[in-house]
Amino acid sequence: MDKITIEGGRRLRGDVEISGAKNSVLPILAATLLAEGESVIENVPDLRDVSTMIKILRTLRVHVAREKDKIYVKPARSLKHVAPYKLVSTMRASFCVLGPLVSRLGKAEVSIPGGCVIGARPIDLHLKGLKALGAQITIKHGYVNVSAHTLKGADIFLGGTCGSSVLATMNIMMAATLARGRTRIENAACEPEVVDLAHFLTKMGAHIKGAGSHLIEIQGVKKLKGVHHTVVPDRIETGTYMIAAAITRGDVMLHNVVPEHNNALIDKLTRSGIAIKKYKNKIHVQGKQRLHPIDVTTLPYPGFPTDLQAQITSLMCITPGISVITEKIYPDRFIHISELSRMGARVFLEGASAIITGVKKLSGAPVMASDLRASAALILAGLVAEGCTEVYRVYHLDRGYERLEEKLSALGAHIRREKE
Ligand code: UD1
Repeated sequence: MDKITIEGGRRLRGDVEISGAKNSVLPILAATLLAEGESVIENVPDLRDVSTMIKILRTLRVHVAREKDKIYVKPARSLKHVAPYKLVSTMRASFCVLGPLVSRLGKAEVSIPGGCVIGARPIDLHLKGLKALGAQITIKHGYVNVSAHTLKGADIFLGGTCGSSVLATMNIMMAATLARGRTRIENAACEPEVVDLAHFLTKMGAHIKGAGSHLIEIQGVKKLKGVHHTVVPDRIETGTYMIAAAITRGDVMLHNVVPEHNNALIDKLTRSGIAIKKYKNKIHVQGKQRLHPIDVTTLPYPGFPTDLQAQITSLMCITPGISVITEKIYPDRFIHISELSRMGARVFLEGASAIITGVKKLSGAPVMASDLRASAALILAGLVAEGCTEVYRVYHLDRGYERLEEKLSALGAHIRREKE
């Protein structure tokens, strides 16, 4: 297994190119199952989750070829309908093949993705949506079995205890594209990745209105075709590099971004005293010596993303004063706190809030990555800590950050990957 070693204390300076969005490309790859013909997807990041999705598509008899950041995808005439546990269990987004398979084949058997360290991750909204479209659902031996002679459009309220669901909205939107009649998804997720998927489906011939709002309307069509699409930039990778610039008091220009997708983060960083300028496809971040503490609550888009909660926590750990970070999407998503404490952070948990008293310095230490975004938070802490930080179990990072060490090294960080 690999570990990442960082010598902290270097200010990051220079330019960094942001990759395509992981959370966009995964459902878009699933959506290619709906097409009769080849799709070409561009700006695809080289990530372990993308490789996993490609393996799942191949299992379903989809021909996939990769050429740098381009993927060519062509479903066979007779697709298979079973997505196996071995692959689906490693990545929640793979559950997104369910909607397209049922819609296209009238049946699907997909392993339940299972929980993960950021807390319980139910699938009830996915199932509620498919049932409303007329599918029969049984759960047996860890698999969801769905069958439907024809899916029929319906009005579906997709709200859970923590609000809207990104992947459930996507799954139902995809299933509804080939359903008979009109579907209305109420309380739909508004995330930019939902909008990107809707753009892709629309190019394929789907009739979708309202993506990006809480009400999405889909008028079913008979068939969809393969198309060309370029994936949107990754707003979570963008946010992570913005915080990297801020935490090291650096000066970084981020390229290939959509600044508006990060407005919630830009607002919080600006309040903390960091200088940020937005351009058409660029963001310039200038860290400042003296920062102010901030309170952050994670919320569905356009609120502050839960996927940047761990990273902003690292920044507040070295910001004088008291900050409160409240997690409203995954109330248990605080595994990184104990590792940050090992580096000298002063944080205590009160329910779903982390109360942070900023310290002057963090001190490098061996730490264990527990999940994707927690790993990023530890890397950020390592960039500013005194001495050497060793981050173990970095395979989590490879799921979601393309060439992380290379990009950080180019900005001046002392970071390297080694075998444990
Ligand atoms: C997606 C993102 C993930 C991000 C999350 C929240 C992908 C591949 N992953 O995950 O990075 O952290 O959005 O922004 O896009 N819920 C239910 N029932 C369901 C489904 C979800 O109650 O059937 C709850 C969840 O437990 C959570 C909330 O809804 O509290 C939001 O989760 P959801 O938006 O579904 O997350 P994902 O789409 O799985």
